[in-house]
Amino acid sequence: MTDLAFTRTAAERLPAAEREAILRDPGFGNHFTDHMISIVWTVDAGWHDAEVVPYGPIAMDPASSVLHYGQEIFEGLKAYRRPDGSIVTFRPEANARRLNESAHRLALPELPEELFVRAIRELVTVDADWVPNGQDQSLYLRPFMIADESFLGVRAAERARFLVIASPAGPYFAGGVRPVSIWLSEGLARAGRGGTGAAKCGGNYAASLLPQRIAAANDCQQVLFTDSATVDTIDELGGMNLFLVRADGTLLTPQLNGNILDGVTRRSLIQLARDRGHAVEERDLTVTEWRAGVADGSITEAFACGTAAVITPIRRLAGEGFEIDFGDGAPGALTMSLREELTGIQGGIREDRHGWLEVL
Ligand code: COI
Repeated sequence: MTDLAFTRTAAERLPAAEREAILRDPGFGNHFTDHMISIVWTVDAGWHDAEVVPYGPIAMDPASSVLHYGQEIFEGLKAYRRPDGSIVTFRPEANARRLNESAHRLALPELPEELFVRAIRELVTVDADWVPNGQDQSLYLRPFMIADESFLGVRAAERARFLVIASPAGPYFAGGVRPVSIWLSEGLARAGRGGTGAAKCGGNYAASLLPQRIAAANDCQQVLFTDSATVDTIDELGGMNLFLVRADGTLLTPQLNGNILDGVTRRSLIQLARDRGHAVEERDLTVTEWRAGVADGSITEAFACGTAAVITPIRRLAGEGFEIDFGDGAPGALTMSLREELTGIQGGIREDRHGWLEVL
């Protein structure tokens, strides 16, 4: 427990009518709340200057390490408004832990977990009016850490900053919760053995942008990455984890092999599925197995999952020279039922039997 207290500088708030217009149809990542969090770290003084400040541009020296060597990590979690008006966040301590795992890999300082959770609470409390209450809506929270020492030598920075911004959100994919198409990236990889694939760092997402653009040019909403050596063993999608469902109700998902993100949604779904008695296999999965399973009817559903995507059904897998449509393109029954259960817990209409919600 640190005794670091937040100082607060009140922002000029967006007029209520304008905020309400945004909350009616926020999209994803388009609008930001009135405040943000900033905490500074230096090698000599540790974490200090914890502040709630008006949302706005940050001054940065052009020599800041993050601008040159990409020393940056981030997280994504959401705050939800329950039917009684109260606000909850979902498993923030899991994000705090993962941020520190990413920090370790990117040679950034670890942030005390309770300070992370407190920072989230500070921001959601001051900007509580921005937590929407519509179907599939939430306040998306984006904690991130950047190295901002002004120094061009290539070594871990001795100064960093942790920030949290917040953005009201509807469904991640335009068009709402509709099944999406996936493009298999064959020549372009996201991660390799011993790389940063398991860390939530900006560089992994930067590496996914060209393949993602190729996916979009082929009418696909997400790109599928495989192990770069086999181009068959499945890692994850550009910004989310992947699950397949077998006809006997078994869920299959790639094991945490060092290349993929340990998704909080992934982990929660494994728990919910096991609670229902479904077998869940975390192991190596291949595109070959997926294609064969669709062809012989033993793999019946596929979905993407993540904080932003929640659970998004997959209707098609395509790549150079092939295209496989799954069934009639309708979302799978187990996919939608798990989605309903998870969002029900998050939205306060189902029992939180695992104690995942942090009530503000
Ligand atoms: C999330 O699901 O929170 C992510 O970080 C994925 C993407 C929006 C980058």
